[in-house]
Amino acid sequence: MSAALKTAGGTGPRHFLELMDLEPAALRRMLELGRQAKRGELQGQPLAGKTVALIFELPSTRTRVSFEVGIRQLGGTPLVLTAKEIQLNRGESIKDTARVLSRYVDAIMLRTADVAQIRELAEYATIPVINGLTNISHPCQLMADVMTFEEHRGPIAGQVVAWTGDGNNVAQSFIQAAARFGFTLRLATPPELQPPAELLAWARREGARVELTHDPAEAVRGARAVVTDCWISMSDEKTAAAQNRHNMLMPYQLNAALMKHAAPDAIVMHCLPAHRGEEITDEVMDGPQSVVFDEAENRLHAQKGILLWAFGAG
Ligand code: CP
Repeated sequence: MSAALKTAGGTGPRHFLELMDLEPAALRRMLELGRQAKRGELQGQPLAGKTVALIFELPSTRTRVSFEVGIRQLGGTPLVLTAKEIQLNRGESIKDTARVLSRYVDAIMLRTADVAQIRELAEYATIPVINGLTNISHPCQLMADVMTFEEHRGPIAGQVVAWTGDGNNVAQSFIQAAARFGFTLRLATPPELQPPAELLAWARREGARVELTHDPAEAVRGARAVVTDCWISMSDEKTAAAQNRHNMLMPYQLNAALMKHAAPDAIVMHCLPAHRGEEITDEVMDGPQSVVFDEAENRLHAQKGILLWAFGAG
């Protein structure tokens, strides 16, 4: 790898917005770069001289720290901006923000509750834009999740992954990942919290094996990985309807009884933060099948791969 990477030319900046936008080969290249970073095989400081703005409209522990530390470890400079301290909060348009930041920094990561914001940012930015979570997706998380599965259980293609709980933004990125990485995804959600029909239709057109059920035991049966997430996502308002999710989702809790239906060597994944005793029990989260902290660590490595790709590697 070149010690000094340039922003990819040709057809414009390399944005990392949705897994569905990207070819499997590009995603595989990012994972390989992330693995090289994890093994300490990268030469020099590939992001030397690069500044990456990290904009957070929503709170974060893992995304903020893993991006900030990862950029520094690659020799770059992270610039963390929370929404309340920039003019976006006072009505400056995303379009103008994109144009201005493109004059100062070399890439932008955005976490936002409105996917339209990141799409507009990418449309007007002349530098790479990375999706750090929206209301409908969390692709950086999925790159870490695939990396984690493959570290523990080998190639994910052809394997069965089960999701139990809310059909939220992470579940929706799992659907995109099933299409791009070739695994079977079984989702158990309440009828009211199913992922969008258009996304499921897209996945099926792509040839993905995505199965829906309302029975978590059916979803988990024989699966090599069982995944869940919190019941109220950050982008959901704390309304009475959101509170009702607790009752609706309790049958989907990831607990020891549910894990008995999975393959004996199934791993347990959760993107964190976890609400212990709600979507996952202490027993499962702290048990021998849990890889949740490897998954959290792999955010750091997988995102290095994303950044290196965005700046032109591969
Ligand atoms: N999983 C995840 O994105 O964690 P944070 O919300 O802490 O960034």
